[in-house]
Amino acid sequence: MASRARDIRAAALGALMLAGVCAQAPSFAQDSAQKSASPAASALVYDVREDAIPAPLGGLTGDPARGRAIVADRQKGLCLLCHAGPFPEQRFQGDIAPDLAGAGARWSVGQLRMRMVDAARLNPATSMPSYHRTQGLARVAPAFQAKPILDAQEIEDVVAFLAGLRDGPAAQEKP
Ligand code: HEC
Repeated sequence: MASRARDIRAAALGALMLAGVCAQAPSFAQDSAQKSASPAASALVYDVREDAIPAPLGGLTGDPARGRAIVADRQKGLCLLCHAGPFPEQRFQGDIAPDLAGAGARWSVGQLRMRMVDAARLNPATSMPSYHRTQGLARVAPAFQAKPILDAQEIEDVVAFLAGLRDGPAAQEKP
């Protein structure tokens, strides 16, 4: 199980890197000036309190609809590789991680943010990628160094979506 989880993590990180290459390549030239000026382009400094990051990254406000799209996107968030959730339109969902349904009832917004930014800080053995960490990672291709998988706005969007998932898996079951 542990080694399967590790394999899946390696596959997920590989796929995330590829997704990053595809997503970044066409728009990189025109975006780069604007991006380097924006705080969202690199991982932000954040304040951890126990197992939570209480304040929104960069003071940004998340949009739950955008967050849902990121979570369901198999190139962007890749969450459904490991997690299932309330996504009736998604045929294949993961089963190696907790169902995301009810996540907003199980965790505070700050706890969800911590899990999204750097789940490995809470559980070093987790297969969950650290979506907004750029320090202390092994074998990151030069093009991705100092670039988090999800930027600060995307993290806030996903957190806003997860915070709204108040019903547990039982209530989400399809007929
Ligand atoms: C490679 C597998 C993997 C991917 C990809 C992944 N996770 Fe996770 N996630 C896990 C595992 C495993 C846990 C259980 C916690 C642990 O391992 O410490 C977890 C825990 C969580 C939790 C806490 C769950 C709970 O209610 O107890 C949330 C919320 C979460 N993940 C959200 C996400 C979101 C959103 C994404 C996509 C942006 C994502 N995860 C991508 C593996 C993954």
